[in-house]
Amino acid sequence: MTDKATLVVGDQRYDLPIVQGTEGERGIDIRKLRDQSGLITLDPGYGNTGSCRSAITYIDGERGILRYRGIPIEQFEQHPNFVEVAWLLIFGNLPSREEYARFSAELTGNANIDESMKHNFQGFPRAAPPMAILSAMINALSCFHPELHELEGPDQLEAAAANLISKVRTIAAFAYRRSHGLAYMYPDPKLPYAANFLHMMFSQPYNEYLCDDRVRDALNLVLILHADHEQNCSTSTVRMVGSSKANLFASCAAGVCALWGPLHGGANVKVLDMLETIHQGRMTPEEYVRLAKDKGSKVRLMGFGHRVYKSVDPRAVVLQRTAERLLAFLGTDDPLLNIARRLEEIALSDSYFVERKLYPNVDFYSGIILRAIGIPTNMFTVIFAIGRLPGWIAHWREQNESPDGKIARPRQIYTGNRETAYKPRDQRG
Ligand code: CMC
Repeated sequence: MTDKATLVVGDQRYDLPIVQGTEGERGIDIRKLRDQSGLITLDPGYGNTGSCRSAITYIDGERGILRYRGIPIEQFEQHPNFVEVAWLLIFGNLPSREEYARFSAELTGNANIDESMKHNFQGFPRAAPPMAILSAMINALSCFHPELHELEGPDQLEAAAANLISKVRTIAAFAYRRSHGLAYMYPDPKLPYAANFLHMMFSQPYNEYLCDDRVRDALNLVLILHADHEQNCSTSTVRMVGSSKANLFASCAAGVCALWGPLHGGANVKVLDMLETIHQGRMTPEEYVRLAKDKGSKVRLMGFGHRVYKSVDPRAVVLQRTAERLLAFLGTDDPLLNIARRLEEIALSDSYFVERKLYPNVDFYSGIILRAIGIPTNMFTVIFAIGRLPGWIAHWREQNESPDGKIARPRQIYTGNRETAYKPRDQRG
């Protein structure tokens, strides 16, 4: 098999090396192309651009495969432990018993935020979007931990990871409490990660929220299935910000902002809006699908389609199963689940969606689970962010330690004015 590609431009030929990944993916290394030829490559949206080599997550979008450090995500369904997966992503293998105990203790020890940070929450209007609060508070957190700005070695990275992964959950719960005018609940050191989050969300000073194991497992699974997805928009943002040697807090705060958008993590909120619209009888599923196909409407079938998956999104498959299981356990008959099933059925038998290879993605069923747990819609993307944080940290680390880790700085094809002389204001119309 050839290990180089040849680009022919006019009568010039340029040899470019081919790189290959462990699963046989191949790419053309164009780093020297501009030096050799004066040419750059143009790829808006980076749909065909490899920005790095990465050993964290593998996706085969044609076959619907997603693996974290080699482990197929379906295998976590029987072992829904988000803390384990966080370690796996960041440090490269499942934690030993000693590592697991230590990391869990670090998460517990880091769960409280500085008491004075509570005042920051009061500074936001009650209706402030929780994603805005989350991003701002992650940056605020960095002010309390200057010792974690420059990370030297794995021990310090572990400390920073435990700090962020633990506190982001407290910040998210406090943002919810603030928006509902509820007393802040302190973390309970006896509770594991997901149960502790639900405690901070839903306990009252006089009434402790008791978390059923199946609810805790469902939340763990939601967090796990969001934990990493290689070079998606928010992770690429974290890597890009980190490439300037910005600290981990600043980079992850930027990741939250990128995730907020409705084409990315914010889609889970839009899916619920869509299902509610149909449920309230403002549109039938058939009418919604028709509108989503109409290019003039600007409406999309939310929770459908993906840049990489051109067959099933394996996360959606596990999430649908989890939603069905959880609702059966809770004895809840959520009409939105039936609407989602109906939309999926219509879309998957419609040539528009079939030809474009548009399938349900991670956001299509996750909201049904979160709703059943009692999490309000405006917190859905925050849950996505809590889940994605270990992935962001893993990528920040990888990018920071990589010998290829240069500052991210794409080029462009300039299409503006040619050189133009400055005209003084008194000579302009
Ligand atoms: N509904 C209707 N048409 C769609 C949809 C959709 N959900 N998604 C893509 N298309 C059409 C699109 O109009 C285009 O048609 P045409 O070729 O006729 O112009 C074609 O499919 C290709 O779409 P694209 O926008 O070029 O694809 P992309 O890879 O740039 O975008 C996407 C991927 C996920 C942004 C897009 O599918 C979308 O907007 N989906 C809805 C939002 C959503 O669910 N986002 C969550 C993504 S998964 C979780 C995450 O990453 O956070």
